[in-house]
Amino acid sequence: MIIAIDGPAASGKSTAARSLASRLGLTFLDTGAMYRAVTLVILDRGISTSDEFACKTVASDVRLEFDGEGKILIGGMPGEPGIRGQEVNLHVSEVAAHSGVRRAMVRLQRRIADQSVEAGGGVVAEGRDTTSVVFPTADLKVFLIASPRVRAERRAKEEGRPELADEYEKDLKRRDDIDSSRADSPLTETDDAVRIDTDKLSPEEVLDAITDLARARR
Ligand code: CDP
Repeated sequence: MIIAIDGPAASGKSTAARSLASRLGLTFLDTGAMYRAVTLVILDRGISTSDEFACKTVASDVRLEFDGEGKILIGGMPGEPGIRGQEVNLHVSEVAAHSGVRRAMVRLQRRIADQSVEAGGGVVAEGRDTTSVVFPTADLKVFLIASPRVRAERRAKEEGRPELADEYEKDLKRRDDIDSSRADSPLTETDDAVRIDTDKLSPEEVLDAITDLARARR
């Protein structure tokens, strides 16, 4: 079974997808972590994030895997917490807009899903473009939305810095703009996705709603 959870930055996709995967015994596929990992390697190597060819080369060559807990490994080394840093936040959307980078990541995402399905399981894939491009025939598509303010407050709280909510709001809006307006695979809500507005829902309520949908389609 393939479940794809899409939506803008900090709409609650990761939390919902991770818990859903563990509840249903499926593999959690954090596609955002993959774009973040490529960005981290690019920054570490001093490569310019606007150099499409160099970014694409890194994306094609870097070895990305997920450990048993769904945490990303870059060349066998833990990608957390480096991939969540401020520098990566600032540059990830520019890197993710390069078509060559996206092609390499989508190939890897489909390979991971195929392996899970062949082994009798499946994936809960999370990220912008998972419902529209990566898994257009997913068994269940969910599009999570929340207002920019709520998303910023959640993200700031998650990072233990509630006083930074204003700054996070600016970063999220900036990334929403880049992600929605890019030429290749912009953030899109597909007609066959179930939309859930999470503004007034707790993480448990979101999880329960998606679990019910998934069980009904299994
Ligand atoms: O959790 P948050 O929404 O902050 O970000 P993320 O899911 O870790 O993704 C970080 C960035 O990677 C996004 O702002 C997008 O620019 C890019 N991304 C993408 O282009 N396609 C995906 N499938 C996932 C992430």
